[in-house]
Amino acid sequence: MRIVVTGGAGYIGAHVVLALRRDGHDVAVIDDLSTGTPDRLTDDTPLFVCSVLDTERVAENLRAHGCELVVHVAAKKAVEQSVAEPLMYYRENVIGMHSVLSAMAQAGVGKILFSSSAAVYGAPTGDLVDEQAVTAPASPYGWTKLMCEQMIRDVAAATALDWVALRYFNVAGAADPALADRGENNLIPRVFRAICSGVPPQIFGDEYPTRDGTCIRDYIHVADVADAHAAAVRGMSSGAPSAIYNIGTGSGTSVLEVMHTARRITGRDFDWDVRPPRAGDSPAVVADAAKIRAGLGWQSRHDLDDIVGSAWQSWSSRSEIPVAR
Ligand code: UD1
Repeated sequence: MRIVVTGGAGYIGAHVVLALRRDGHDVAVIDDLSTGTPDRLTDDTPLFVCSVLDTERVAENLRAHGCELVVHVAAKKAVEQSVAEPLMYYRENVIGMHSVLSAMAQAGVGKILFSSSAAVYGAPTGDLVDEQAVTAPASPYGWTKLMCEQMIRDVAAATALDWVALRYFNVAGAADPALADRGENNLIPRVFRAICSGVPPQIFGDEYPTRDGTCIRDYIHVADVADAHAAAVRGMSSGAPSAIYNIGTGSGTSVLEVMHTARRITGRDFDWDVRPPRAGDSPAVVADAAKIRAGLGWQSRHDLDDIVGSAWQSWSSRSEIPVAR
């Protein structure tokens, strides 16, 4: 299939491009290179440098590639930043979605695969969260993702649009150091940054109602996330119905367990600081991933060791990072 991946030069997008190319698809990328970098792409991957907000140019690029399906990954994704700069998030993510759907309509593209997030659930109750759970985002970031899902459903109700939305849980790791996350917004890169700077990593709260008092999350390897996209595209090409799927492992890991894993894998004997809880954090957010297993035959293959190990390999190969011994 001829596919355009928006945000394909970014951390998750580049892994998605790789997985789709492995499945034999003809993939081009639209990326404004605000956080993406062309070195994440092979030389023979067409790259259109363009903001998703530029509807006319997006439509032109979709036509130029003969696009049949858009994978819309391009978005801002830092939860705390979304609280500080909500208008920027609504512009980039919600108006960005509006622009991409408009460009698809102009170019006659009838299929979209959308990167959504577990952030749409807010603070779920119960052990596992399935796709039917109440959506109650706790941040502007989460709201932007939920609004995008709604926009897609409304357009689909009015047209023949086929769609899938994948709600990612906590994406981490790398299939290759060249594709790694270079941001430091999330727990695992923040732990590496701290230990390489010789300061203790921080645990935000240890009195949550969880097995060890620290927050529990469902960490999912980015290569598994990318494979879920390939499975969704296979489903969409063979007439699977439009749907929302959780992309997680179904198994939760506490912040303390991440610390112990990082200590074992890095071989560094570090300690941690327990800080006050971070505003807006939910005690536990773990996917029920049964729906995508049944519907598209996808399930995660990598465990926490693979995630932390591949992230550490990427981190320690970054020559500009001083590695304290
Ligand atoms: C949030 C979003 C998630 C999104 C991700 C992307 C929600 C509910 N989840 O995940 O959908 O994909 O951001 O950025 O909005 N922590 C520490 N110390 C640190 C950093 C983090 O203890 O230095 C803890 C946090 O309190 C949290 C866990 O580690 O319990 C993971 O945090 P983080 O990596 O920031 O992701 P989430 O906030 O879970």
